[in-house]
Amino acid sequence: MRKLIVAGNWKMNTSVAEGVELAKKVSEYAEKKNLPAEKQIVIAPPFTHLAPIAQVINADKVILAAQDCAATTNGAYTGEVSASMLKGLGVKAVILGHSERRQYFKENSEILLKKIKLALAEGLDIIFCCGETKDQREAGANLYNNVIKAQLVDTVFTLSAEEFKKVIIAYEPVWAIGTGLTATPEQAQEIHEFIRKEIANNYNAQVAEDTTILYGGSCKPSNAAEIFAKKDVDGGLIGGASLKADDFGKLIDAR
Ligand code: PGA
Repeated sequence: MRKLIVAGNWKMNTSVAEGVELAKKVSEYAEKKNLPAEKQIVIAPPFTHLAPIAQVINADKVILAAQDCAATTNGAYTGEVSASMLKGLGVKAVILGHSERRQYFKENSEILLKKIKLALAEGLDIIFCCGETKDQREAGANLYNNVIKAQLVDTVFTLSAEEFKKVIIAYEPVWAIGTGLTATPEQAQEIHEFIRKEIANNYNAQVAEDTTILYGGSCKPSNAAEIFAKKDVDGGLIGGASLKADDFGKLIDAR
């Protein structure tokens, strides 16, 4: 079944103490709202915050996610954190393919597919990000549609339909991330519809119907309701606005 999700990607922000406080507030909010099972709240704090946050949130109300995982199983990989380590902490999902990982850490589809497989092997859900850059957008729909399609074809579309059930897609136009520029509701809907059609082509109509597709990129309380109202937009992956409990609460309400 398709879920309606508001997910907070905290990126490399907050001290552990601040993060624990923020997570507590989100969890309290979620408890107060008592959302139906198909409406989910996800938070993705930095690695260092996951263990203490797992202790303070109501795991029935808030899904704990990581922002990345290693492309290998445990071993001599200094600085890495494996999917199995995350699983052991109570983490339920992992964000993969974020444009910041692609851009700054040179993650390509080959690396991402390894991460996807390892995360799935631990039973984690995948929030898989895709999206075009400003130049690609300006080059026209033919190009940006192909860019997004290729990001999916080379990675999550290689999974079986059964495995793909664990995948949530996040469409995040790179030109809208942290820039204050948001895709219009129509621009978001156009791509979400395109992605859903491609899922149907690759699997079938039912799989496409059941897939949750989130929008991300300068989503905030003032613009979220309009974007979330679109037929193929099932919620948001929120960066900046997820760092303020009040704003994040408003985004949850918008969905
Ligand atoms: P933003 O980030 O909401 O700060 O634009 C979204 C994201 O990168 O997931």
